[in-house]
Amino acid sequence: MARLVVTGGAGYVGAVTARALVAAGHDVVVIDNLRTGFREAAPAPLVVADVRDRDTVAGVLRGADAVLHFAAMSQVGESMSMAVDYFDCNLGGTIALLAAMKVAGVKRLVFSSSAAVYGDPVRLPLDEDHPVAPKSPYGDTKLSMERLIGWAAGEGFTSCALRYFNAAGAWADGSLGEAHDPETHLLPLAIRAALGTAPPLRVFGDDWPTKDGTPIRDYVHVLDLADAHRRAVEHLLAGGAGGTWNLGSGEGYTVREVLDAVGRAVGRPVPHAVVGRRAGDPVALVASGARAAAELGWRPQRTLDDMVTSALAWERVRAWGPARQEAR
Ligand code: UFG
Repeated sequence: MARLVVTGGAGYVGAVTARALVAAGHDVVVIDNLRTGFREAAPAPLVVADVRDRDTVAGVLRGADAVLHFAAMSQVGESMSMAVDYFDCNLGGTIALLAAMKVAGVKRLVFSSSAAVYGDPVRLPLDEDHPVAPKSPYGDTKLSMERLIGWAAGEGFTSCALRYFNAAGAWADGSLGEAHDPETHLLPLAIRAALGTAPPLRVFGDDWPTKDGTPIRDYVHVLDLADAHRRAVEHLLAGGAGGTWNLGSGEGYTVREVLDAVGRAVGRPVPHAVVGRRAGDPVALVASGARAAAELGWRPQRTLDDMVTSALAWERVRAWGPARQEAR
């Protein structure tokens, strides 16, 4: 058992990971400013604070064995017109966190990074040595945060950067899942459209060079992501070396294939309309998970249908997050 601090542990991936760490027997404390997270989501004692509040964070960190750092602004679209805020929160937050870790004498860090660091792929599947060229302030902050924690090795820090592809799904019984406001992600919007609690899904283009004309993504179950974070922190606690790992399944699904899976789970087709392409969308993003498999022993265990059924269960009981709206 280790004492672990989870920043952003009231957000989607952070809360699911914190709950998985508690279930694995670790002693967890969550720090979250509740800007986009929800108090009800935090599965462990919660300190409401911004990671830029170094004194508070240093106090929470005292005696901890490691930190898992999820706290960040995370909307690609929003970041396009909020670059200064994104760098302030994400990079500024990471600078403050590392400074607080130094004060508290905590030197192990697992960092929540993103496939958004890669930009448009020049080859698929994307391995960790693929060139990085983020296309949004969001992706650039994640790359900058990675670089900072990499340089911090010179001050004795050991860190794991986990670049995830498309996080999806919920705790298997639907008791904890994603609650973004506004929601922009494909799976929750498709489920709401099928349930009639949101307008028909807008499909962003069906003229892409793929088998059915819609873009391809590598969807990875949030419980598999949580498992990867647990493996990464336990690897560091056992004295393992830091590094950078992609978290994806290696398998891509088109938007239409996701809509088909949702239709099967709900029992009726997803109402949708094809509209123009969304600015900044790459045609395909698929990970090579070879390094995570070889070095962390991590391979995703859950299927797209598992993501859909758990996300549907969560959407049906969702106790917090944006209010449900009836389709007009
Ligand atoms: N899509 C639609 N309609 C929608 C929403 C999405 O057609 O209403 C399509 C998108 O065009 C894309 C796919 O569904 O092809 C997935 O879109 P999401 O918005 O769910 O996810 P993204 O792939 O855009 O973004 C994800 C993460 C980001 C991360 C990015 C890396 O959510 O945090 O991958 O490129 F930065």
